[in-house]
Amino acid sequence: MKKTRAVITGVQGWVPDYILTNRELETMVDTNDEWIVTRTGIKERRILKGEDKGTSVIGINAVKGLLKKTNTNPEDIDLIICATVTPDMPFPATANIIADGVGAINSYSFDISAACSGFLYALTIGSQFIETGMHKKVIIIGADKMSSIIDYQDRATCIIFGDGGGAVLLEPTTEDVGVIDSLLHSDGSGAPYLHMKAGGSRKPATMETIAAREHYAFQEGASVFKFAVTNMAEVSAEIMERNNLTAEDVSWLVPHQANKRIIDATANRMGIGPDKVMLNIEKYGNTTAGTLPLCLWDYESRLKKGDNIILAAFGGGFTWGSIYLKWGYDPK
Ligand code: UT7
Repeated sequence: MKKTRAVITGVQGWVPDYILTNRELETMVDTNDEWIVTRTGIKERRILKGEDKGTSVIGINAVKGLLKKTNTNPEDIDLIICATVTPDMPFPATANIIADGVGAINSYSFDISAACSGFLYALTIGSQFIETGMHKKVIIIGADKMSSIIDYQDRATCIIFGDGGGAVLLEPTTEDVGVIDSLLHSDGSGAPYLHMKAGGSRKPATMETIAAREHYAFQEGASVFKFAVTNMAEVSAEIMERNNLTAEDVSWLVPHQANKRIIDATANRMGIGPDKVMLNIEKYGNTTAGTLPLCLWDYESRLKKGDNIILAAFGGGFTWGSIYLKWGYDPK
């Protein structure tokens, strides 16, 4: 009997309308367009404005679009997993709010916290439910409203991050497509370099934590950069090796969009040219769990059935990993 795999049968992204340009950031902190573009590759990012709007707004819009374009009834969805580090609230899970918002009344849902690698973790987990035959339709979301935890007085972090995300539909297939391999890692000793100090059980919110600006993401950029370059490149090369893929075999690298220089280093290590690298960092910045589905969405019209795709990410935790999949459909 042929093995059942999970295949992506649709992808949809969503970003808010408001564009925060490098020029506008110049009026907020001591920075300039040239520094940001040279050091990161980012020109602008999106910001979700408005009262009472959390990450679920991104997820609901992406999933609604996904259901429409794949002609899927929300009542047929078995499971929704949302990867995010900026949930609407500490609880309930943002995935619960998204499921309710799209009318997925027969689905259960939960969140995954793995920062920038969250989409890889969630895609790996969701694929298992399909491969085992337990579920037929699983939605994986990667979304973050990073502007809710960014200190717009800290020039080293506020220039990188933006809001946005996307969702994919996973279904079973016995064809030679779908999620083939996954390599995931985490190392909690990386926490000091990238974290949010207060607001959790260790340091609940007080007047002091607010005054000390401890409810914002803290990043020791240069250290994270070093770990990211090494680990994202290594894990991408490793998944190629263990699946006997040469650079010629790889159709696309879908890299986490944190810094153009990290992306270039990963592509170099894999031996692939820039024409095979998905890139949209210049217009969205780093949307944390949102970057990978946003890339797939932007490049969807260029993907062909059977394309060999390597997804790779590195982020807070530390977490990092890589997925090898074969694309499941031709452009519609
Ligand atoms: O997605 C999750 C994982 N995160 C990442 O992968 C991000 C990894 N890190 C990075 O992408 C980079 O480290 C940053 C883009 C955050 C920073 O770039 P860098 O080249 O590592 O800069 P740096 O932190 O080493 O700082 C170099 C200089 C410093 O000035 P001095 O001390 O040399 O005088 C900074 O103060 O650049 C200065 N600087 C800036 N200057 C203008 C830092 N931020 C800015 C800025 N504008 N926005």
